[in-house]
Amino acid sequence: MWAREGVNDEYVFNVVRDGVPGSIMPPHGLSETELWMLVSFMASLSEGGRDAEFVGDAGNGRRLFADNCAECHRAGAEAGGVLGPALTGVTRRRSPEALMQSIREPSERIERGFRPVTVETDAESVTGVLKNEDAFSLQLVTEAQSLRAFRRDGVRQLNRLGASLMPVFSEAELDAGELADLLAFLHGNQ
Ligand code: HEC
Repeated sequence: MWAREGVNDEYVFNVVRDGVPGSIMPPHGLSETELWMLVSFMASLSEGGRDAEFVGDAGNGRRLFADNCAECHRAGAEAGGVLGPALTGVTRRRSPEALMQSIREPSERIERGFRPVTVETDAESVTGVLKNEDAFSLQLVTEAQSLRAFRRDGVRQLNRLGASLMPVFSEAELDAGELADLLAFLHGNQ
């Protein structure tokens, strides 16, 4: 919301207080203090990085992306896998610190739609990220990156795993300079 031209905290405050004219968003009965707390909380969630925070060699970043990340991620026009989320625009949604943490310690924060599970049936055991589940079925993207659906009554066990399917990239695999190059590439490749 904040990424749009002319949208600042005061604008959001007014929208939340008065509602959007002619829309279904109703005004709220919150106090001014509560409203400002809500606005600053929402702003903190949507905090992306600023251009100046993404300095690096984007060309080298593209090469590093192709070698280390494209197996599971797409970014902009760059082709890639689907086990992980598309990283297009990710630097506008998340700060450099948060992104570095996602790369250094992937298991710390795993988004809905990318939770790692192992499904056991009588015939096989399949690991992947859980896309969807309801009373009768569940769907995952497997580690081999194919979409599979299972009927609940055929699933012997569903194990929810604690560790992300994204590998940890420590200093040894990706030093600080390379990480900066990667983020510069992602930032320039919306
Ligand atoms: C083997 C697959 C795999 C590889 C290789 C991989 N990732 Fe991931 N990545 C994932 C999965 C799965 C997730 C979602 C779960 C999580 O957040 O850990 C993810 C999540 C992320 C996120 C968080 C996305 C968001 O929307 O907040 C970032 C950032 C990220 N990866 C960057 C990278 C970068 C950069 C590389 C290469 C250096 C990389 N990944 C390599 C699978 C992978």
